[in-house]
Amino acid sequence: MCLVFRDGTMAVNTKLALPVALGLSLVTVTALVVYYVFKKDEEKTSDKVVKSARVNVIEVKVPKSIMPALIGRGGSNIKDIENKSGALIHFKKFTDQEYDVCTIRGRTETTQLAETLIHDFIKQQPLIEQDTMTVPGWACGRIIGSGGENITDISHRSGAKVKIESIQASDKVTQRQVTLRGTKEQIQVAKGLIENCVAQEKCRREIEQSKRSPRHVSSPSQSPSASPAPPAPEDAPGDMHHNAHVKYKRPGKIC
Ligand SMILES: *[C@@H]1O[C@H](CO)[C@@H](O)[C@H](O)[C@H]1NC(C)=O
Ligand SMILES: *[C@@H]1O[C@H](CO)[C@@H](O)[C@H](O)[C@H]1NC(C)=O
Repeated sequence: MCLVFRDGTMAVNTKLALPVALGLSLVTVTALVVYYVFKKDEEKTSDKVVKSARVNVIEVKVPKSIMPALIGRGGSNIKDIENKSGALIHFKKFTDQEYDVCTIRGRTETTQLAETLIHDFIKQQPLIEQDTMTVPGWACGRIIGSGGENITDISHRSGAKVKIESIQASDKVTQRQVTLRGTKEQIQVAKGLIENCVAQEKCRREIEQSKRSPRHVSSPSQSPSASPAPPAPEDAPGDMHHNAHVKYKRPGKIC
């Protein structure tokens, strides 16, 4: 058994070359492909055109986020690739890696076709990214909404998954982290919707505060338990705000 790279120029001892090849392909997820060539010769061929009937095994690394789409509903997509190429395809899952491995087995032409089809498919997939942003603690009630309806709406409208880090009620946290997952565009839309929420809540708070204590607007040091952060003069837990919002159905209109 020997190891051959796709151009067929390199044939090295497997024990030495395999770790090297895998290490390299960590860098470029899809570009580097390892070929194992088994010398199982001609016996099985009924096809006279094919001179060498070697069984090829090609391993392609597939980012985990793409796996469900590549396999398809009930395996339909991968069956389609098998049917088009004539190669057999299996998957090796790695829980400790960012990728899984797709093993393509068959005669040279079939495995090469399957490999091309898989690479093309991977290239067409939108890249899923993860990003974070921080929001003021006082805006979280509004971002989440009653029963989570606002955050669900932000998720639906943007297509991104949105999560706000949870905190203990006793924590004096003025900023909270939001994690967003989706394509670049989806993340961008979700961020815009969240920033909108924060701006609306900021506006509502300013109006409320100027109504309540016009003489003390510029002295947040009044309440000793409050956090010193300037944008959060009344640093109350999220659910208190949550209740407060109910009274102000459409504060955005006043602004
Ligand atoms: C598989 O390919 C053959 C032709 O090679 C075609 O007749 C058949 O419909 C295909 N089956 C599926 C499930 O795509
Ligand atoms: C949900 O969002 C809407 C629109 O920004 C807002 O009017 C409403 O107050 C929010 N819900 C809560 C509970 O803050």
